[in-house]
Amino acid sequence: MKHVPSKNWINGEWRGASSGETFPVTNPASDEVLARVPALSPHEVDEAITSAQVAFLSWREVPARKRSDILLAISQALLARVEDFAELITAEQGKPLSEARGEVVYSANYFRWYSEEAVRVNGDIIPADTPNKRIFVLKQPVGVVAAITPWNFPVAMLARKLGAALAAGCAFIAKPAPETPLSALALAELCAHAGVPAGVFNVITGDAEMIGSHFMSSPLVRKVTFTGSTEVGKILIRQSADTVKKLTLELGGNAPFVVFGDADIEHAVEGAIFGKYRNAGQTCICVNRFLVHDSIAHAFTERLIARSKELVVGDGSEASTQIGPLITDEAAAKVTRLIDSARREGASIPLEPTPNTRGKRFISPSVITHVTPSMSIWKEEIFGPVSAIATFATDDEAISLANSTPHGLAAYVYSNNLSRALKVSEQLEYGMVGVNDTAISSVQAPFGGIKESGFGREGSKYGIDDYLVLKYLSVTMP
Ligand code: SIN
Repeated sequence: MKHVPSKNWINGEWRGASSGETFPVTNPASDEVLARVPALSPHEVDEAITSAQVAFLSWREVPARKRSDILLAISQALLARVEDFAELITAEQGKPLSEARGEVVYSANYFRWYSEEAVRVNGDIIPADTPNKRIFVLKQPVGVVAAITPWNFPVAMLARKLGAALAAGCAFIAKPAPETPLSALALAELCAHAGVPAGVFNVITGDAEMIGSHFMSSPLVRKVTFTGSTEVGKILIRQSADTVKKLTLELGGNAPFVVFGDADIEHAVEGAIFGKYRNAGQTCICVNRFLVHDSIAHAFTERLIARSKELVVGDGSEASTQIGPLITDEAAAKVTRLIDSARREGASIPLEPTPNTRGKRFISPSVITHVTPSMSIWKEEIFGPVSAIATFATDDEAISLANSTPHGLAAYVYSNNLSRALKVSEQLEYGMVGVNDTAISSVQAPFGGIKESGFGREGSKYGIDDYLVLKYLSVTMP
């Protein structure tokens, strides 16, 4: 990327913090400081919210077809700059360039999808009880939306929120994760060139807690959309009470990957490799717990070990890399802690992570067996390249083990018996289930969880509803 942004995009302008305060953004592979970005003060956050509110009043009047054209222009502009954005994502986030390119295309697809949805926000006319009465249902934009976005997909997680919000006619303020604000800032500039008016899309950086609480307490912010931990999601739910805000929460997962005795083992292992090691295991829908039927546990484990060993760990900017560094030292320490505690709690580790001369954030795949539900590695979201395997004997046991978590984001079922796969899928308490499939994310499908994995849906024909409110007109014709 030729130009790395170092200011905030507010009301159509690049702005620094008036205090001059900044914080560094570093490359997790090399520790190189890529840029310093502003640490806004509370009153600057409020100013950004106010300017978004002013912009909202005009944006909601822009005809849907025009908003649709702008969204399509954003999609096309992103596709024209896949390489630029991919390089920036890899530099600040660490994922391999091939995955970063995929993320940019995935993001562009959200803008295209929502350019198509923008023109289909249809209301309803409902038959009334009396001849001189009409009941109309209007769908209107909720207002100013604040988004708190994660570091694992710095562009895609923003794109699927922003695309829906702009399509609905909302103005939008994003606070990207402090680890990865640069691609969000670059996206803001791209959107402005594609025709998004000043103030309609803003990106601000600074102290996460302060910005989050300003979003939550501002009566002008009518909706907050968040992707991140369940812990923070619960804080946001509490903070939303005072202004009764609409929320969309994409929170943590603890995805089970259930392999029945009749599964195609080769296909299941290939699904596992993608579903476990994508983004070095740092996605909310990554497999967290393998549940394998006793009859095939040995064969599955051996094949998974063999395939895991082949994966190349390195700097994401190198073409051979399949697993990049974890995002921070803290993230790496958590993964190491979970492996160590599984060992202490009695698990076996037939594939140990190998130390990497590049540093402790570079963690190679490991495979852990004899995992039990009392172990931390079973209960916590690993967010790293560790395959933790438990076994089961009956379908009921598999379902009960799979559901034994407060989380309910994604689950995976592998079986060649369609009727078993469907019956089990119906009993899994998850918002998304992949049957013989781990590539479940797509713009057409409703992404989201149940239980402590949150609520609301992103993408698909349902995603725009989170940015709309219903108004009903009761009209009597005297
Ligand atoms: C995630 O939320 O971490 C996964 C994102 C995706 O696959 O869309």
